[in-house]
Amino acid sequence: MFERLAPAAPDALLALIKLHAADERSDKIDLGVGVYRTGQGGTPVFGAIKAAEARLVETQDSKSYLGPEGDMGFVEALMPYVFGEDDPTMDGRVAGMQAPGGTGAVRLAVALAKAAGVTRVHLGVPSWPNHAQILADLPLEMAPFDHDCDDGTANVEALLEVIRNAGDHEAVILHGCCHNPTGIDYTPDQWRQIAEALSMSKILPIIDLAYHGLGRGMEEDAAGMRAVLAAVPEALVAYSCDKNFGLYRDRVGAFYVMAREASALPAIMSNAAALARANWSMPPDHGAAAVRLVLEDPKLTAQWQDELETMRTRMRQVRERLAAAGQVGSLDLTPLATQNGLFSMLALDKDQIARLRADHGVYMAGSGRINVAGLTQGNIDKFIAALAEVAG
Ligand SMILES: Cc1ncc(COP(=O)(O)O)c(C=O)c1O
Repeated sequence: MFERLAPAAPDALLALIKLHAADERSDKIDLGVGVYRTGQGGTPVFGAIKAAEARLVETQDSKSYLGPEGDMGFVEALMPYVFGEDDPTMDGRVAGMQAPGGTGAVRLAVALAKAAGVTRVHLGVPSWPNHAQILADLPLEMAPFDHDCDDGTANVEALLEVIRNAGDHEAVILHGCCHNPTGIDYTPDQWRQIAEALSMSKILPIIDLAYHGLGRGMEEDAAGMRAVLAAVPEALVAYSCDKNFGLYRDRVGAFYVMAREASALPAIMSNAAALARANWSMPPDHGAAAVRLVLEDPKLTAQWQDELETMRTRMRQVRERLAAAGQVGSLDLTPLATQNGLFSMLALDKDQIARLRADHGVYMAGSGRINVAGLTQGNIDKFIAALAEVAG
């Protein structure tokens, strides 16, 4: 039976992690793995989460099943952060459920869209590789368009054209902020144009918000998505707490539906629950319970927001420092200052990326994506010098 299986393509980033681990150079630089790193190179547990976890261990008296919707206290506590003051949830048109990470939430969103009749999903490329993999697995037709232009800005015209030309049964996946892998987000003015175009189209927006708070701020990072939600009758949101609460392996996500009217929600959510049951039965509890405890306690909430701000500030400083280097050989680093989040793409070819690894111990994805949080005061000058050498 299993001899019929051809080997699946290896995960290139996992291979890179192994190569990096085997490199004995003490000044090697890892820009591959997609997690936040402090200036000391670690990815520590948030203090607010540690405190919430301690409380959870003390007070939790059962680990009995919760159901496919997970911890609804978590789902509801998160809503003001996602939807903000002009909250469409106020008129009861939004419902949500917990999901296993942002990945589970994306999976649920596209599976529900498919169940509702969507046959084609538009995706700006490059994108997070798992978007295409999830669509292929369902399967759903993926229609790619260009996310960005050569000058490091977003190709908003390509998206507007997709929206204007879309017929029935189509959806578009939009990164809410901190685009992975380019770091190139739509500007507030572009989001306004997108929202206006969406309001005149039948296309269903699916918004993937995986890095909320890692770009410009909690409000700023959600503003584009909220402009869209204010303009359209229906939308799906896939949210991850794995980066902005540092819970990566605990798999904490949420999935929200904004429906045309509140009365449509029970049928929609019963379908979402059925899909969740068939996929993972119910999401893991621990991380989401810890997030709920943080959000229910104003002191822990403030501590979490401070910790998030420290991360954001550090990434902005790294971006400013890289941008200040300006033209480095054939590479223009100035757009990095206007980009957001963990990632940016450098226009390097395969040979240059291999030379960075072999000659300088600099590890980055084969696409040229770098994780800016892999850079520190101690290694950034070396990195810029290495870039100058390979791109010179
Ligand atoms: C754009 C995007 N969406 C969703 C996810 C999923 O995140 P999670 O680790 O919470 O599953 C990621 C993670 O890398 C991502 O980059």
